[in-house]
Amino acid sequence: MTVTAVVGSQWGDEGKGKVVDFLAEQADYVARFNGGNNAGHTVINEFGTFKIHLVPSGIFAQNAVGLIGGGVVIDPAVLIEEIEMLHKAGVGVDGRLWISPRSHLIMPYHKILDGLYEEAKGAGATGTTRRGIGPVFADKVSYNGIRWTDFASGAFETRLKMQIELKNKIIAALGGEALSYDEIRDTYRGYYEKIKPYLRELFSLVQDGLKADKNFLLEQAMGTFLDTDWGTYPFVTASTTIPSAASAGLGIPPRYITTVVGVTKAYTTRVGAGPLPTEILDTTSAVYEQFGEVAATTGRIRRVGWLDLEIVRTAAQLSGITELCLTKLDVLSGLDDLQVCTGYKLNGEPVRYADVDAYGLENVEKVYQTINGWNEDIRGVRSFEQLPENAKAYVKIIEDATGVPVKWIGVGPEREATIRR
Ligand code: GDP
Ligand code: IMO
Ligand code: MG
Repeated sequence: MTVTAVVGSQWGDEGKGKVVDFLAEQADYVARFNGGNNAGHTVINEFGTFKIHLVPSGIFAQNAVGLIGGGVVIDPAVLIEEIEMLHKAGVGVDGRLWISPRSHLIMPYHKILDGLYEEAKGAGATGTTRRGIGPVFADKVSYNGIRWTDFASGAFETRLKMQIELKNKIIAALGGEALSYDEIRDTYRGYYEKIKPYLRELFSLVQDGLKADKNFLLEQAMGTFLDTDWGTYPFVTASTTIPSAASAGLGIPPRYITTVVGVTKAYTTRVGAGPLPTEILDTTSAVYEQFGEVAATTGRIRRVGWLDLEIVRTAAQLSGITELCLTKLDVLSGLDDLQVCTGYKLNGEPVRYADVDAYGLENVEKVYQTINGWNEDIRGVRSFEQLPENAKAYVKIIEDATGVPVKWIGVGPEREATIRR
């Protein structure tokens, strides 16, 4: 039995989707356990190009059964659309995708409130994906949530009615339009009918799988520094994004997690507000252009920065990362010099990420090391030995800083564009 958790070691979008897609070859179960459709995971394989938000990215492996744990929050319309998209692409999920009835539903008022809060905060806004994530998790922990299980138990109508009354008052106070109970009830009843065949309590399935020595691949959404507790609060997301979330979010005891794969982008990106210590601020510079990315969920332009080793080092410690997958090394080709942040200082003294808060992080002095770049196009390289010497040195710096081996290196977005060591 192996239980492998795949986690992002930066601010999300490290390339987790691609990594989960290729690791799924060996998995019996592929699972999501946190977040919701704020996640956007890109998978490029023989079925096509996909931006996946809720279904585990490992679903393309026909041997694997997909699980969506109770820790995930679900926008039913997005899930239905995603299942249909997969069917159209020839990826059947019937009988091999199971959703926990414990998972909470994103309701129309969650999305409305997400937007109203963001607007009220003005310049202090979080820059959320506006998918209702903060409000749905707030309802979950304040006992106001609506779960799939509420349809079967008959609690749905009463709980919804109560919430609509409550939320309409808040929405009105913030200047929004009142919602209709009847309309939402009917729409969500329709969603339930479509999702019902996929609902199944996962407890016995997971426990039996562990007992039968099955291989589990757990796909985290978002990244370590968007974690509610350990991220750059308040510029974070509303769920736990470190591997321990798999315990509550899927029902896997922590001691069963055998491997933690840390996905690390060869540079750094961030979407939304909050500190990005190594940020490249000149948006007209060639390097900004080279690192440029468009967000998979919202289509926003991602902020970019140099590789920050203090960030990756902290993630490796916090999540107990046992092996690293370095992605997008190909994107660095053609730069004469590369900057790598080796650590922070405050008042001339070394300081760790965890010693300062999000506002303090804006003021730390970054210590940079300049590394010679390489000109070769490495997209066709499939063995570590064939990499240019300076690219090898770049990989070694990451291993030395974290004490964790880099086991895979991404040299392109496609599944096969990967160096395995
Ligand atoms: P995720 O949220 O962690 O799954 O990452 P995203 O899919 O949001 O963003 C990662 C982006 O990098 C996507 O456009 C991927 O197709 C792309 N990508 C992943 N790995 C590599 C790689 O090794 N090289 C290149 N050039 N692109 C990659
Ligand atoms: P994946 O799984 C990058 C960011 C948002 C915002 C903050 C809070 O694709 O790596 P939210 O909508 O969650 O309330 O927004 O978190 N964020 C992500 N950034 N990748 C993600 O997911 C993200 N999910 C949320 O941009 O700054
Ligand atoms: Mg993403």
